[in-house]
Amino acid sequence: MDLSDKILKLKKEKKAVILAHNYQRPEIQDMADYIGDSIELSRKAAEEKDAEMIVFSAVDFMAESAAILNPEKKVLLPCLGARCPMAQMLTVDEIKRAKKQYPKAPVALYVNTLAVCKAQCDICCTSANAVEVIKSLDADTILFGPDKNLAEYVSKKTGKTLIPIPENGFCPTHLLFQPEDVTVLKMQHPDATVMVHPECSSEMRQVADYVGSTSKMCRYAKECGAKSFIVGTEEGILHRLLRENPGKNFYLAYEGAICPNMKLTTLERLYSALIDEKNVVKVPEAVAKKARGSLERMFAV
Ligand code: 13P
Ligand code: SF4
Repeated sequence: MDLSDKILKLKKEKKAVILAHNYQRPEIQDMADYIGDSIELSRKAAEEKDAEMIVFSAVDFMAESAAILNPEKKVLLPCLGARCPMAQMLTVDEIKRAKKQYPKAPVALYVNTLAVCKAQCDICCTSANAVEVIKSLDADTILFGPDKNLAEYVSKKTGKTLIPIPENGFCPTHLLFQPEDVTVLKMQHPDATVMVHPECSSEMRQVADYVGSTSKMCRYAKECGAKSFIVGTEEGILHRLLRENPGKNFYLAYEGAICPNMKLTTLERLYSALIDEKNVVKVPEAVAKKARGSLERMFAV
């Protein structure tokens, strides 16, 4: 039996469900029951009534969200060191400081935050629903973190003032995309449609035909008539895009756009977490209760 077969056997025995983010390694995506974006996977986990264990192949904040939304299930993160650096950029102190400065402004946080921060906000959002979430708030000035690029994008789309907390939170992987690279790729593939993640810079968004979350990009690639795409997000998504769209071409806007934390999940680590039921992600109930409220308000929108 190879490792993949062993994982599938264990998964059955332990009534586990394997979730993989769109940026995971191809062999991990191929092992997963569901592949998706940061939050749709947590909802999937909640729908899996028979599952007793969730193996969340992704980074820390995603597994935490799954633990918050599925308190009765065991949530495993195959590599505990897989942490999103952008989520680490926002602290509870920073939120408290901003709240003091803008006492009337509600706090909306991207799900790429730690549970303790989610517990401090009024509502969460993902890049798939940030525009709708911000529109739903009865305020024109909103504290928003930690991604400054997403804040700028949503502010443009809604006309509302989004005050970034911290001042300059960013994703180190999406920062690598540069519009010059798109210009060169466009010369080689003039018919290609450019789609980018809202975590990219405003310069990248300006050269894009479509801006959307990872799940929205997957949907767009299927539904739009184009045959070729230049993709401005982490390289792992190409595996899914190619599998779901035979006959279409996908070119990464920058070959080095790799999130090292997303790649920490390997088949060996997945197997080891599953066999020993280790790397359990736990969020203390006092924190989870408040954070759950912020996530549920988002789902209500
Ligand atoms: P998505 O919600 O679009 O999957 O984004 C998560 C993320 O970490 C992007 O870098
Ligand atoms: Fe975090 Fe960026 Fe990696 Fe997404 S791609 S998990 S935002 S570091």
